[in-house]
Amino acid sequence: MTAGIVVAVAGETVKKENIDESKVPPYTLPDPLIDSHGRRVTTAEEWMETRRPEIHRLFETEVYGRAPREAPKLEFHVDSEKRDALGGRAIRKEVTIDVSTARGHLPLHLLLYTPKTDHPLPVFLGLNFHGNQGVTSEPDIQLAQCWLINRPDVRGILDNHATEESRGTESSRWQVEQVVARGYALATMCCGDIDPDFDDGFQNGVHPLFYSKGQTHGADDEWATIAAWAWGLSRALDYLETDKSVDAKRVAVIGHSRLGKTALWAAACDQRFAMAISNDSGCGGAALSKRVFGETVGLINKNFPHWFCRNFRKYNDHEELLPVDQHELIALIAPRPIYVASASDDKHADPLGEFLGAKNAEPVYKLFGKKGLGTKDMPPVEHPIGDVIHYHLRTGKHDITAYDWQQYLDFADRYLRESQG
Ligand code: GCU
Repeated sequence: MTAGIVVAVAGETVKKENIDESKVPPYTLPDPLIDSHGRRVTTAEEWMETRRPEIHRLFETEVYGRAPREAPKLEFHVDSEKRDALGGRAIRKEVTIDVSTARGHLPLHLLLYTPKTDHPLPVFLGLNFHGNQGVTSEPDIQLAQCWLINRPDVRGILDNHATEESRGTESSRWQVEQVVARGYALATMCCGDIDPDFDDGFQNGVHPLFYSKGQTHGADDEWATIAAWAWGLSRALDYLETDKSVDAKRVAVIGHSRLGKTALWAAACDQRFAMAISNDSGCGGAALSKRVFGETVGLINKNFPHWFCRNFRKYNDHEELLPVDQHELIALIAPRPIYVASASDDKHADPLGEFLGAKNAEPVYKLFGKKGLGTKDMPPVEHPIGDVIHYHLRTGKHDITAYDWQQYLDFADRYLRESQG
């Protein structure tokens, strides 16, 4: 049992967060290799053809919600191109991805840095929290005009818009210079371009573009905000496929925290992503839900009611009923390389649960002849481990830092460079 104290959150009650390992309940993880008829999957082909679609469908209907099958119309406009960005070391582009359906249109703004070379480069692609102007301190990037959250702890975000003061506020989280110096492109877009990070009943952002006439909200198994953000990452990849400066077959999708949950779901939904990186993604990301440690399904659904589909609420304080757990989300990414990382002080995200999420995906990777973490035990801090599944625990708080990026770049050198054509 978790600590039996009940707290009130947004008018409902859920159990309080437990960070005491001795109070983790006994739990059984669903076996990714036993299908819905009780049959064991023994080959990579069976996994891809039958079992993988079953698990993917469960995550769609019970956790993140199903994205529309309808393909929107996409138009790409290069709004600016600067050939001497970052002191002459990179080319910088700002691109509008205009998404439209019969119901209207939505502009998404992609920022792309590419090192100066004449061959297509591998890319890190991820969403940012507060607008592209926050990613570097370069003074001439368009200020975000999208749904932003007023944050007393983030400089320059006021009344839902970005001001000059917000330039560079997320630069330590993006390490653009380091990424470019190592020979990778970096592409990013603000999550608020796709869908607001608050509970708006799905009236803004991308959802209404897919409502049928007279419809005002989706069904209980339809996409919520994380699925919308993940969908947006795929639209960014659609653009990257048209840009000759990058190699769209070598795109690592990356994200921190709620955007790490998003990166994992994006890689699970879109097999064009060559690699996935989950930084401190926690509950609904890499961490096992059934451990009921740190943030729980009940707490996340109460505090962020717009992130997951309504069906996910069935598991509030009842993680034992979940038909899937997050190791199977990582398994959906197989055989592609996956890096899961945690921070030692980030108990809320359950570092051990994240490690175990990665660990328990190993049997699926093994079907493809791929090696996982190579240990049963959580490694010490600053000790990255693994093969195609990789993991590290960084000292410190919930964040994405230069240390984290160094490991991701080393990982990409190993697995995105080797497939260079
Ligand atoms: C909150 C939330 C987490 C999330 C994090 C973030 O802490 O509870 O689930 O990962 O915000 O996105 O920073």
